[in-house]
Amino acid sequence: MRRVTTIAEVRKAVAEARARGARIGFVPTMGALHAGHGALMDASVAECDVTVVSIFVNPLQFGPAEDFHKYPRDLEADEAFCRERGVDIVFAPSDEEMYPRPPRAFVEVEELTAGLCGAYRPGHFRGVTTVVTKLFHIVQPDVAYFGQKDFQQAAVIRRMVEDLNFPLEIRTVPTVREADGLAMSSRNRYLNPEERRAATALYRGLVAAREVMEKGERDPEKVRARVREVWAEEPLVREQYIEVVDAVDLKPVSYIDGQVAVAVAAFVGTTRLIDNILFPETGSLT
Ligand code: PAF
Repeated sequence: MRRVTTIAEVRKAVAEARARGARIGFVPTMGALHAGHGALMDASVAECDVTVVSIFVNPLQFGPAEDFHKYPRDLEADEAFCRERGVDIVFAPSDEEMYPRPPRAFVEVEELTAGLCGAYRPGHFRGVTTVVTKLFHIVQPDVAYFGQKDFQQAAVIRRMVEDLNFPLEIRTVPTVREADGLAMSSRNRYLNPEERRAATALYRGLVAAREVMEKGERDPEKVRARVREVWAEEPLVREQYIEVVDAVDLKPVSYIDGQVAVAVAAFVGTTRLIDNILFPETGSLT
């Protein structure tokens, strides 16, 4: 495995691999790697000849009151993780390499970014789509892998790639969960033991939502109320949103028909966590 830090180096390494006929898989990350990232790497290693992982905490996608400065950074541990998973190239650029001057060009996906997390994190998705565009142009992968846990992000990037004709495929990989159901997230490490226990309510609420939909409930308000009921038993969980949206255009639905996502965000203590399920699960976005 090679670690490269400059755009020129990663472009050269990928160009050499492509000249040998290699299919290039790409997993963009902000580091603090966990089994959820591992599943993205495994998918890329299985489907592609060369896997590139980027590790870059992108300042552009954090709001002024968010956790950019405290976001966990441990490049040595992340590199070891990538090596174990069979990654070929780690691209870990500095802020200066990615943004040598204040950017004046941005990529924005409209409408899909208006609701859910977009409503509470102004500018976040513009920062994501801008850095992912830069990374796609730098790495030029054949396939890029995103986690279902960041459901809105995956849908937004998929739409950006389709609308702007990026020559690559997007794959969405199912959420990896701890044994008690908590979705793997780099931010889970902010939770103290009591919060960590309370955080399981997020997924328990989603499981309860799935159960009522499986029994035939088609009213999104009743599904949302069911999640809220489960969360009400955990005083440490503070709702930010519980939404039932169309799985592709992310618009709230008034009747559950076709594939929907139940997407949630909540604060557990001061840590903001998100999670979601698709219903029905079959035919999920890949
Ligand atoms: O999901 C993430 O870790 C980030 O949003 C991404 C896609 C690496 C862009 O910075």
